[in-house]
This record gives sequence, C-alpha cells and structure tokens, in this order.
Amino acid sequence: MLMAQQFRDPEILLELFRSADKLATLAEHHETLTPLRRLLEGGIMYEVFYEPSTRTRFSFWAAADMLGMHVCSSESAGHFSSAVKGETLEHTIRVLAGQRVNAIVIRHPETGAAQRAATVVDKYYPNKVAIINAGDGRGQHPTQALLDVYTIWKKLGRLDNLVVVIGGDLVNGRTCRSLAYLLSKFSGIRLVFVSPPELAAGNDLLEHLNESGISWKMETDLASVLPTADVVYWTRVQRERLADPSRFVELRDAFHIGSKEMLLLKPSAILMHPLPIVGEISPEVDDHPQAAYFDQANNGQPIRAALLLHVFGIAMQ
Ligand code: NCD
Repeated sequence: MLMAQQFRDPEILLELFRSADKLATLAEHHETLTPLRRLLEGGIMYEVFYEPSTRTRFSFWAAADMLGMHVCSSESAGHFSSAVKGETLEHTIRVLAGQRVNAIVIRHPETGAAQRAATVVDKYYPNKVAIINAGDGRGQHPTQALLDVYTIWKKLGRLDNLVVVIGGDLVNGRTCRSLAYLLSKFSGIRLVFVSPPELAAGNDLLEHLNESGISWKMETDLASVLPTADVVYWTRVQRERLADPSRFVELRDAFHIGSKEMLLLKPSAILMHPLPIVGEISPEVDDHPQAAYFDQANNGQPIRAALLLHVFGIAMQ
C-alpha cells in the first residue's frame, strides 16, 4: 500500500468500510475480541518511523494488536536506527524484511521512500512482506486518506456528489494529495482548493484530476467558499517542509477557522483535519457539533485493521 491510486475500485473501499464497522463493533466486547485476535495471530508487523507521528503509529499498532499481531515499533528511526551511522534505507529494509516479518509500516521524510522499500522487498523477499506507506515526505499518506474517506462515508452516508473544500498547505501536505486522489474515484466530486498562492496544489495532482474528469477550482475567499461545502478538510502549514520556516505564522494565519467561520457552514457540513492542529483552527471549534476531526482520528484503528486483513487476504466471517 504505497499510494492512494492503488485503491482502483470504489467497491474495495466500501468493503473496507463495512469490515471496519464490523471490527469496531466486535472490538468493543471482550468475548468477541478473543476470536478477532486469532485472525492474524502469529503475524509480525514492524513500524519504522523516521518522522514524528502520534495517530498513525499508535493506530496501526492498536489495529495490528486487535488482530493478534506482534508489533515492534521504532518511533524515531532517524535518530536511533543505523540510519544515524549512515546506513541506506535499502540496507535497513533488506535486513528488516529478512526477519520473518509480515508487514513493514514506514514513514520517512523523503518522497518515494516507501516505493524504494517496496522495490527492495520485491527483489529479495517477493510476496513475503507488505510495505505500507505511512507518509513519505511531501508525497502521499494513503492510509490517512482511507480513514478520511471512511469518515466522510460514516458522517454523510455517501462519497459522491460532494463539494469538498481542501485548505491549508496543499503543496507540502501529503494527506491532501492522497485524499484528492482517492476522491477522484467517485462521481460528482467538486474540489475547491484554498491556500496561500505559494502553498497551492501542485500540477501533478491537478493534471490527475483533469484526466479523471474531476471538477476543481482554486479560491482565496473563505467566506464565499465555506457555505458551498459538504466537507471542509483543513490542514496545517508544514513548517518543517517550508523553504523559509520563519514565514510559518504569516502563512498559517492567512486562512484560519474559528467560531465565526463555522457559522458559514451548511448545517449538514463537516469540518475535518488529519491532525495535528497547530493554530489554524481555534480551540473553541473542537467541541462544535460539526467538527469531525476527533471522530476522524478514532476511525484510524478500525480502518487500518480492515486494511491489514485485506492486505493479508483474510475475509471476515
Ligand atoms: C499527517 C501527516 O503526517 O502527514 N498527520 C497524520 O498522520 N495524521 C498530517 C500532518 O502532519 O500535518
């Protein structure tokens, strides 16, 4: 699972959603948790995270644990693995993949790192280890997009005929790119991108949307855009990826959501955010009934568990 485009068929997504719903219900009760743990019992998952993470690393861990896998997790591989000594990603992955492991979940600051890991596995351990991209630099974060569309489906009951406003750092933010790719599988989607000009969505994505026949536009006036939205997907300015990090506050504050902006939303619209929020949404919005981002984060565990079952070809009874 390297990029959102791999979910070719919306039907696969719907199957994953249904399986995640079922897993979430089963996991609530002790007596149904025990059989769940047998589904991937004996499996081993490594988490190799070269960049900070809270939700992705823990929810993958919790998902694997729910299904009975053993998890070894490195939260700061960039500082504590042999990468510090100068080892290449290729060598690290070749060694880890040789250890009877079933899945390696990788997050890395370089775009394409997960693909490089998959290339190593395909060469030396073909079909033995699943590489899962948990974020590669400015590239993609496909499992975040999966939980994002799962959340939209749960909250709004559909994934077609939606106006989705995607705002914030669209050039450095990998979640926006993966989400836009995934939404392009559905019909009647209209994307509205809102960002400072220097953080606008890149041509790679816009060309893909054109090829897929998805309607998109770029806007700068929040007040005119918010009332049209079914989903508002807000993101932080990625300070660590800015050419000039001293511009962070200025760029962040150019587009801000507070109680005043929430009043502009349709009553049925939801506000999403992959988290972390670092000032681009006011704290008073957190408990607003239309703020969906904590439910969104909580959807990470069941949908990632559903994905693990799918990757290993295990069907739920
Ligand atoms: C995102 C990421 O790592 O790309 N975080 C996450 O996984 N929920 C978003 C971000 O860091 O801004």
